[in-house]
Amino acid sequence: MKLRDKVALVVGGSSGLGRACAEACAAEGAKVVIADINERGAEDTLAGIRAAGGAGMFVNTNAMDESAVKAAVDATVREYGKLDILVNSAGGPTEADEAGWHHQIDMYLKAPYYGCRHALPEMEKNGGGSIINIASLSGVTGSMAKVPEGTGYPAAKHGVIGITKTLAIANGKKNIRVNAICPGYIKTELTRPLYEAKDGGDRLITQRLQVPMNRWGEAHEIGKVAAFLASEDASFITGQSIIVDGGFMAR
Ligand SMILES: NC(=O)c1ccc[n+]([C@@H]2O[C@H](COP(=O)([O-])OP(=O)(O)OC[C@H]3O[C@@H](n4cnc5c(N)ncnc54)[C@H](O)[C@@H]3O)[C@@H](O)[C@H]2O)c1
Repeated sequence: MKLRDKVALVVGGSSGLGRACAEACAAEGAKVVIADINERGAEDTLAGIRAAGGAGMFVNTNAMDESAVKAAVDATVREYGKLDILVNSAGGPTEADEAGWHHQIDMYLKAPYYGCRHALPEMEKNGGGSIINIASLSGVTGSMAKVPEGTGYPAAKHGVIGITKTLAIANGKKNIRVNAICPGYIKTELTRPLYEAKDGGDRLITQRLQVPMNRWGEAHEIGKVAAFLASEDASFITGQSIIVDGGFMAR
């Protein structure tokens, strides 16, 4: 129980990697608040957490709306008295067009910024904390975009790593650690069209991308890294972008 008495806010915790982060933090004893637009998914996440003996609640939150993110932070502190851990993991499919570019920036850059901005003062009051931004391999290398409008995702994910490093420097003396996780190809709702593709989701991994571990990642393999980063086991790790990709970037 490495997160006993801790309180975690997971933005995007109704599905996929956010759900896995919520479950992993709860399994280590944290109370978990799910901030998401998907209430049903949040209830599923929370049902699993409660069945395993954990506790948590849902706050309906559009991560792209700064006032809603602030309200989620406030609701967390009202309910559980403090905020120790923030995970920023909201996401969803977007078109590679002009509107999609702006949407990617709103979803993947501005939303984590809002989360950090409003969580940091609460963590400072509390004498410390841990922020985990879910970035991407597209935060450390270019994506396969064919048109300029397709650059929104890598631009935002590179930006999240900039936010992560900068806030880590700014908040180190306050004992607030800020890290990013860069997942490779992980099975979630977001990637379902890829791994369930008729022409072979496995072939994408084994032949086209040649992921050294030769398989898709599972969401819990990200969740456990988030729980580690949130815990005292990671007490001297800050400003880092941890790549969790089955060896893809090592090639
Ligand atoms: N799955 C992967 O392989 C992979 C790889 C690299 C990075 N990522 C990143 O992981 C994060 C999570 O993606 P996922 O794969 O778990 O997808 P997912 O679709 O399974 O989960 C995304 C969650 O975000 C929520 N969400 C969407 N829009 C929201 C909004 N406006 N406000 C609040 N919540 C919102 C959804 O309801 C859902 O619960 C994203 O930032 C994504 O870029 C995923």
